[in-house]
Amino acid sequence: MKEVFPGRKLSKRGTLFYLLRGSAGVFIASIIAGALVTVLSLLVPEIINFTVDSVLGNEPVSDGYAGLVTAIGGVGYLKENLWIIAVALLGCALLTAAFTYARMFLTTYANQIFMRRTRDTLFSHLQRLPLSWHVQHRTGDIIQRCTSDADTISNFVANQLISLFRILLLMLFSLVFMFMKNARLAAIASAFIPFIVGYSFIFHLRVRKRFKKCDEEEGVLSTIAQENFTGVRVVRAFGRERYERDRFETQNTYYTGLWTKTMRLLATFWTTADCLASVQGLSIVVAGTVFCVNGSLTTGELIAFIFYNTMLVWPVRQLGRIISNMSKAGVSLGRIGEILNGTEEDYGEKQSLSGDIEFKGVGFEYEKGKPVLSDISFTVPEGSVLGILGGTGSGKSTLTYLLDGLYAPTKGEIYIGGKRISEISPATLRSNIGLMLQDGHIYSGTIGENIALAVDGATEADIKQAAKEACIDGNIEGFANGYDTVVGERGVTLSGGQKQRVGIARTLLRKTPYLIFDDSLSAVDSETDAAIRANLNEKFKGATVIIISHRINTVMHADNIIVLDGGKIAESGTNAELLEKGGIYKSIYDLQFQLPDELKGGAV
Ligand SMILES: Nc1ncnc2c1ncn2[C@@H]1O[C@H](COP(=O)(O)OP(=O)(O)O)[C@@H](O)[C@H]1O
Ligand SMILES: [Mg+2]
Repeated sequence: MKEVFPGRKLSKRGTLFYLLRGSAGVFIASIIAGALVTVLSLLVPEIINFTVDSVLGNEPVSDGYAGLVTAIGGVGYLKENLWIIAVALLGCALLTAAFTYARMFLTTYANQIFMRRTRDTLFSHLQRLPLSWHVQHRTGDIIQRCTSDADTISNFVANQLISLFRILLLMLFSLVFMFMKNARLAAIASAFIPFIVGYSFIFHLRVRKRFKKCDEEEGVLSTIAQENFTGVRVVRAFGRERYERDRFETQNTYYTGLWTKTMRLLATFWTTADCLASVQGLSIVVAGTVFCVNGSLTTGELIAFIFYNTMLVWPVRQLGRIISNMSKAGVSLGRIGEILNGTEEDYGEKQSLSGDIEFKGVGFEYEKGKPVLSDISFTVPEGSVLGILGGTGSGKSTLTYLLDGLYAPTKGEIYIGGKRISEISPATLRSNIGLMLQDGHIYSGTIGENIALAVDGATEADIKQAAKEACIDGNIEGFANGYDTVVGERGVTLSGGQKQRVGIARTLLRKTPYLIFDDSLSAVDSETDAAIRANLNEKFKGATVIIISHRINTVMHADNIIVLDGGKIAESGTNAELLEKGGIYKSIYDLQFQLPDELKGGAV
């Protein structure tokens, strides 16, 4: 096992920094562009202030830019050449546009890099997490972490975090400028800020809960729809259309109601917040006018002040929303961090294996105190065939998972060629063991691709050979496009037996020295079953084979047979020995061979 971050776990902030690698530089560039926009937008009121007071009026030029005005040619020169001021304003506008463009472009670009890194990191990490991790998490939940949680974080970084920098900068600058102009008026303006931020923060916390509830209920609604569509056969066959429609309608009404309530809450908030902002603006106009009248403020200063205040109010209103969204991003970071903090399997080098398979006192439990396998001991000599017979739930599949290193035994040891499998790397183990599962999973693609899946550079002849050995070549040649026939969700639907045989062909193509058939002939008729086993005998002579089944005639020709019952070995021996014993095997044998011919292939 390998830890990605040896010896430490990523915190939420650590996760964010880890994901930001590669895009941080571009994000910083976009923050700088944003800062330049802020500075430029603060210059405009200054120019207007100067124009109104000193160019149009007769106030003295303020010390801050007296030098600049003299360099241009003095106030007198500017009075006769007003175009210079117009050009300065236009220049500011053009530069603002250019930097705004740069900021938006850089933010989007950085966000794309960030998203790509996040997706790649998560996906490759998930590929390497052990099966036990995947089993503990629901697929839907994992996908949600990779999509909507990743979106939340990227949205937070690209919109909120960067806005936060911009807003803080804008607030800082406009407050400084305002205090420099008139401290008393600035104090009035800032007295409102805590209320505006506080109100919007509390509101957004509340509305977020509502949005979350809406999301959840939307999930329920789409689950109802999805279950209905995927189970359309059952719905029609049992005449449940009406019931399904009612169920959908009830949920739909509830969901719509929730949205209406949320929208009402939003409307209330925006109106109240607008009122609050208006009162703030009005207080400044009133107080400012009073100051103007009694001479402590110039007209130009008041105009500039109102400009700054307008610039200040909107970001302040956003601040509450951003702060309240931070906790949401925190939750998503935690969920993604949980994936990144999972310990990866260390695949190691591929080596070839040979020798006997040995189980020594193996026990296993998925959940503590509920043994699924206990005291399993047997040996499969190299090159021989072991049959395992057992009913559903007797632990047959679990046994193969242990052998393939997907889970570690809770008791005892498993050896291959005298080596403990816990000391063999997963890469070695899995490249030597060909595991055929009951349900040969089909990926979207051609049937040829599905067979060649696990082998790089398999030739057409190899694929055909494997298909022949798995007795599926006849079916494939019957398809309109042969091996190029598209199968899976958008293509030809394969029957259970065909899927199983594709799975078998896929594994046989790998030519591994160990072959395990885990109930992988269950949906295949007895004759094909026998034909596949005959092919194995002929083509895979040296292979060590374990055939698992609940069907006697699949295992009866094996060199040794184990009967598994309730996670324990009930009896073992050759077919003849077991029949002689007259135990479980014998009774299953009698049962299956007394069946009428046409039912012999079926399940017990
Ligand atoms: N991931 C799991 N978590 C908990 N219990 C499991 C899990 N997988 C299988 N089991 C339980 O282990 C027992 C053996 O399952 P399995 O090995 O699949 O049996 P078989 O392949 O013989 O049908 C069953 O009782 C099953 O419910
Ligand atoms: Mg099974």
